[in-house]
Amino acid sequence: MIDIRCETLPDYTVIAEVNTLAFGQENEAKLVEKIRRSDRYIPELSLVAHVENVVVGHILFSYIDLAGEETLQVLGLAPLAVHPQFQRQGIGRTLIKVGLEIAEAKKEAIVIVLGHPEFYTRFGFQPSVVYQKNGFKTPPF
Ligand SMILES: CC(C)(COP(=O)(O)OP(=O)(O)OC[C@H]1O[C@@H](n2cnc3c(N)ncnc32)[C@H](O)[C@@H]1OP(=O)(O)O)[C@@H](O)C(=O)NCCC(=O)NCCS
Repeated sequence: MIDIRCETLPDYTVIAEVNTLAFGQENEAKLVEKIRRSDRYIPELSLVAHVENVVVGHILFSYIDLAGEETLQVLGLAPLAVHPQFQRQGIGRTLIKVGLEIAEAKKEAIVIVLGHPEFYTRFGFQPSVVYQKNGFKTPPF
């Protein structure tokens, strides 16, 4: 049984551990800490997945600038990490789904992710080239 909730201060250490184990390096854990300290941090969009009260996954959405003819503040999805022993059990998918629902409720129009096309297109993400001809202004829905 997977439960998703917002991160709280006592989760910070295990979130760093999950990111380090999932990515095999500390860069993403450090990125999370840096974003938390910045004005780009959105507390309700730093989510943890827990199984039997143990945090096994984490996703972070934060504000980034999308620079075109005008600069838009949009959401960036990064990083997403699931503990290696809990991967391929639907935890990553659930974190993305819940995160996107919260983003939609907050009326965030655009979410950008840098990641595997096959993994992310199933959640509605499209390659950025689709948007380029519109100067990022009018998504071709
Ligand atoms: C990528 C990651 C977050 C996926 O989490 P997960 O809990 O294993 O994913 P899910 O079980 O929800 O899988 C959802 C689907 O994506 C697929 N999938 C999982 N990992 C994948 C990967 N690395 N590449 C492509 N597809 C992947 C699964 O096959 C699954 O599809 P299925 O249910 O039809 O079999 C996890 O593998 C991870 O932490 N990886 C290391 C860190 C990383 O690469 N993060 C993403 C950065 S963009």
